[in-house]
Amino acid sequence: MFLDKSTNEFGKDVLSGLSNAFQKSTPSKYLYDDTGSELFERITLQPEYYPTRTEIEILDRYASKIVEYIQKEIVLIELGSGSSKKTKFLFNEILKKQNQLYYFPIDISFNFLTSVVSNLENSLSNIIVKGIPYEYIDGINHCNNILFENDIEIKNISRLIIFLGSSIGNFEVDDARNFIKDIRLHITNDDFLLVGFDLIKGISLIESAYNDNKGITSKFNLNLLNRINKELGGNFKIENFSHKAFYNQDKKRIEMHIVSGMDQQVFISSLNKKIDFKKNESIHTENSYKYSPEDIDKLIKRTGFSIEREFFDKNKWYELVLLRPN
Ligand code: AVJ
Repeated sequence: MFLDKSTNEFGKDVLSGLSNAFQKSTPSKYLYDDTGSELFERITLQPEYYPTRTEIEILDRYASKIVEYIQKEIVLIELGSGSSKKTKFLFNEILKKQNQLYYFPIDISFNFLTSVVSNLENSLSNIIVKGIPYEYIDGINHCNNILFENDIEIKNISRLIIFLGSSIGNFEVDDARNFIKDIRLHITNDDFLLVGFDLIKGISLIESAYNDNKGITSKFNLNLLNRINKELGGNFKIENFSHKAFYNQDKKRIEMHIVSGMDQQVFISSLNKKIDFKKNESIHTENSYKYSPEDIDKLIKRTGFSIEREFFDKNKWYELVLLRPN
């Protein structure tokens, strides 16, 4: 089978992740192919999945405050933009203070991004949308190129980089800190970073968000096996596996796993690899770290940013943190 560059990377990561005898795992980014991105959008509509509507509540209430902190003309960059639905609260407020806006949604799900961008272009005026189908830091660099090519002087603008949806929770805590530091190295003193964090709260509330009644999260998780079957020539029987998500209190994270229902062997032809599963053995597919406000303070220390302001929902289930370079 001929594999293109990204499929090749997927294959390598699957091979090394499923070869680990201690705990099989795969990087969570592989959950977000086009099908995965669509399923994730459906997750955000489930009543149990509080992060999305809570973040919308905060944006609806505070978008104008957020924009008030920024004096210069804003260029909006969104990391992991997905459907871009929540961003409209910022569009509206930004366009009250300037008559044109460059918006750069960065997302690795190429077809999904393309269709979101064309919808935005048809429905919004005064917004110049440039979809960037890259990983985050490469994407930020690419935005700089586009601004340069369009004769936008960096010194006249402020970039507002937004990272919503608590996607920061996908990173290990040290990696999250390094990631924020890395962003700092690619921006100037006039730029801002807005990050959404899911906060620690009652366990049953958190766990039900990842175990919705309709089973959409289960489909989202198991889609990884479909993806391996399709792209790498695997022969996973999906019905022999199940979804599991639970809160790990020591590590302050939701862990999502795919659990084998029996002893079984799977073959992945493009990797020429047989993989054995014991009954109840799992593939660890995603972590979603939850933070306390104190954890967030600690995380931000020594990243080159300071917390300018924190915005909470009424229950303090979630917060948006506005960061400014120090
Ligand atoms: C997109 C990473 C923020 O962790 O809540 C939702 C992904 N996984 N349900 C999250 C997810 C299962 C989501 N993030």
